[in-house]
Formats: sequence, structure tokens, C-alpha cells
Amino acid sequence: MSPRAPLRVLVSAGPTREWVDPVRFLSNASSGKMGFAIAAEAARRGCAVTLVAGPVALETPTGVRRIDVESAREMLAVLRREFRRADALFMAAAVADWRPARRLGGKWRAKDGGAAGATLALVRNPDVVATLARRKGARSVVAFALETGSGLRRARGKLVRKNADFIVLNDASVLNSERATVTILGQDGTVQRVERRTKRAVAAKLVDLVDPRRERRA
Ligand code: CTP
Repeated sequence: MSPRAPLRVLVSAGPTREWVDPVRFLSNASSGKMGFAIAAEAARRGCAVTLVAGPVALETPTGVRRIDVESAREMLAVLRREFRRADALFMAAAVADWRPARRLGGKWRAKDGGAAGATLALVRNPDVVATLARRKGARSVVAFALETGSGLRRARGKLVRKNADFIVLNDASVLNSERATVTILGQDGTVQRVERRTKRAVAAKLVDLVDPRRERRA
């Protein structure tokens, strides 16, 4: 890449939504703020940014191309296409690990049989970042890990399993909050801790990981 070509940054953000029936879905509490902050920061620096977002209530940052998706499988399909022409991927989306084995065409009415309990059959969703990073070539891949407790060991495992260059370890307090404490683990063994910073400040630190021109910024 010539030094002047803008870095092409692909970001995923927000939860996925896995439909049970026409009115219910499985999802999680991700607000999408971290991914949106990364997209905004990368665009401010002149990167060409594509943001693939699950269902969130956030405005598209200035200068960012946004593609909305719902399910994990939709997110994989769009990211697979976009990853081909990206230099870096930030996989900040909180992808649902499971989806209902089938989506019912009509409302789920398990209680109508008088049952006091019910079971929903689930199947595994693809691991989106692992699927993409398997053939990443020269592209940088930054994955995220949300852990309860310290989670360092688990996060290291994810770094290897997902073939990421970096993994950003968050604890659950990051959900829906304005500030974040993260630990960034590098494939090369580096560990950087960023304490209680705004998501914008954390985003700047994260874009630095993949932006080779950062040294030349004022
Ligand atoms: N991820 C993904 N596809 C999935 C699940 C997770 O791409 N089906 C990505 C997330 O976007 C994140 C990273 O993998 O970048 C780690 O997600 P996390 O939920 O912490 O890890 P899991 O692989 O789901 O492991 P576990 O549920 O055991 O914590």
C-alpha cells in the first residue's frame, strides 16, 4: 500500500439478534458504543471506514460507511465480503454464540399445552472472527473478549484460537457505560493496560494498533 492510500478499516459493532419466532429474539446487552467509537476515531484520522452494525440506537459517525445486519450469519456474510478489501478488522460486535435451531413461522405457544417449563433448542453460530482470520494474510485483526473476573488466561486462549493479532479484554462493567478499562494482549506477547478511559480515548489507543502512520500525527 502506498503511504498515502487511506487505511481501510472494517469495524463490527453491537449485538446480533437471533429470531425465535416473528416477535421474539435472543440477543445481549451490547450498546455498540465501543465499535462506533473506533469507527469514528478511524474516520477522523482519514481512514476509509466501513461499519457493520447489529441493531443499536446510535448515529452513524461522520464519514463512515455503515451496513446494518441482524443475525450472526448475516454479519459473517457481509464481513466476509468487506474483509477482502480491508487492511484491518476490529471485531467489536457481541456475536451471539447460539441461535434457535429453527425460527418459527408463527408465535411460539409452548404454554398452550399447560406446560410449566419449556426448552428452546439452540445450535452454534459460526465464530465470525475465527472464520475470517483463518485466512487473514497481511491484514490486522483485533478481536475482543468480554470476561467476568480477570479472564487473562481465557483471553490469551481466544487470541490463539481466533488467530487475531490483538485481543482487547473488557470486563462486563463496559456494557452500556461511558468509560472502559481494557487490557490489550498482542500476539507478540505484549500486554497494555488502559484504565478507566472514555471509549473515545480507548478507541484512539486501539486504532494506534493498526495505524502505521500514527507516528506522523501532530
Ligand atoms: N466472536 C465472533 N463470533 C462468535 C462469537 C464471538 O466473531 N460466534 C468474536 C467477538 O466479536 C469477539 C471475540 O470473538 O471479538 C470474543 O468473543 P467472546 O464472546 O468473548 O468469546 P467466545 O468465543 O464467544 O467465547 P466464550 O463464550 O467462551 O467466552
